[in-house]
Amino acid sequence: MKTLLVLCLCISASLADVLEYDDYDLDPKDKGTTAIDPRGHRPSSRGRDAYVPSGGAPPPVSGRGRYRGRPTAAPVTPVEEESVEQPDAGGCTHASKQMGVICPTGCELKDTVRKQERNIKPTVADLKRSVDELSRNTNSVSRYIDGLSDELRERQKVTDGNGQLVGEYTNDIESQHAFIKEAVNTNFPSNIRILQGILQSIRTKILRVNTALVAQRDKCTTQCTVSCPIPVVSGKECEDIFRKGGTESQMYYIRPDSFFKPYRVYCDQTTLDGGWTTIQNRMDGSVDFGRRWDEYRRGFGNIAFDTGKKYCNTPGEYWLGNDRISQLTKMGPTEILFDMEDWTGAKTQARYQQFTVQGETSNYILSIDGYSGTAGDTLLTGATELFGENRTMTIHNGMMFSTYDRDNDKWVPGDPMKQCSKEDGGGWWYHRCHSANPNGRYYWGGSYTKYMAKHGTDDGMVWMNWKGSWYSLKSMCMKIRPFFQQ
Ligand SMILES: *[C@@H]1O[C@H](CO)[C@@H](O)[C@H](O)[C@H]1NC(C)=O
Repeated sequence: MKTLLVLCLCISASLADVLEYDDYDLDPKDKGTTAIDPRGHRPSSRGRDAYVPSGGAPPPVSGRGRYRGRPTAAPVTPVEEESVEQPDAGGCTHASKQMGVICPTGCELKDTVRKQERNIKPTVADLKRSVDELSRNTNSVSRYIDGLSDELRERQKVTDGNGQLVGEYTNDIESQHAFIKEAVNTNFPSNIRILQGILQSIRTKILRVNTALVAQRDKCTTQCTVSCPIPVVSGKECEDIFRKGGTESQMYYIRPDSFFKPYRVYCDQTTLDGGWTTIQNRMDGSVDFGRRWDEYRRGFGNIAFDTGKKYCNTPGEYWLGNDRISQLTKMGPTEILFDMEDWTGAKTQARYQQFTVQGETSNYILSIDGYSGTAGDTLLTGATELFGENRTMTIHNGMMFSTYDRDNDKWVPGDPMKQCSKEDGGGWWYHRCHSANPNGRYYWGGSYTKYMAKHGTDDGMVWMNWKGSWYSLKSMCMKIRPFFQQ
């Protein structure tokens, strides 16, 4: 017992030693003076770290675009979608090489199994209680029978000389005694045996679940794949696919140009006439967005899942990758749509007619223009609840991309204690710091406080001009489409 305790202490101590990227030391003495005003911006203390607004953003790619307007009649004969049969050995570990790696952990399966285990446990406990109680009852009935037997013996002694009447009475008691004894000796035990059988089978099931859990945990250490048939129709991007007849929202292969290898992406072919290439999606917090520069460059997360429809019709949480986003948006004028939802199911949108992301050499500078929508234009005008310089600090247009390991924001550049990405949860085009934080931390339920936030800042999945700093949205999806005249 003692060694166990020591072991536990050691484990928790070593866990505490593992610092996360944003667990940098804040000198507690500093807390009073460097208190952060937790509303997107970081006000400047005059003289010490004056804020100099930047010189404006490069103009986004504009013009008429590579596509004519869509033909008025919707495509009548969609291309036959042949689904490729994928070898399937069950679960998460097997898919054809062609499908590549999609789901990073397979932990959803683990969670499901865990949930099931949770449901079974109370049932087993109940059953066990019933069995125990039945055993207790059986014992007391047995004692009663014993008593009855004794009494019978007594009575037999007494009635020995007492003739017929008592004899009949005794016979009666005897038959009752036999009946009860039979019940106790055969019925009760057989009931108990049945219950014990059930208990045993549930125990076996739990054992199997445990084994499966352990196996799953092992599998979770390596990446695993999801198998979904990918439609044969493919194209430069989702608009191209739509025009070729791929009008179902699901996962497709796209190949924007011949220098890129084809890659998987989720196409939203229903929202606002479809043709949208999803570059970011959040909806359940299953993927961690506090990631390094390299990961944001390459992209991360799960493109899509098959939820029983035999194709990948449900987008996962992912970031497409800055290189791909930049490449797609530089091919021609591109519009972007932010689709978001709060925890009551209310939905809103922000749409920008022009959206361009420069390449890595310029740290993926963001250029954006042409707002329309209901969510509020945070990216161009900043947080409307702030004023003057404080609002300017929350404009995202013209900003470079920052991650916790690559600080390109406008909050005292070079000061490792003043990095937006470290405090606000994700990689983003931080200024000083944000009015929109789509890659921030995922908070269940929406409202959160600065005491829940790791650094007291509004690090949630925030869109200030819709829900303010202290409300983290339920879902957020960023999708792009080549601009064309409607
Ligand atoms: C900016 O924010 C700080 C702190 O919240 C406040 O003291 C200051 O008055 C604000 N400036 C403007 C122009 O609103």
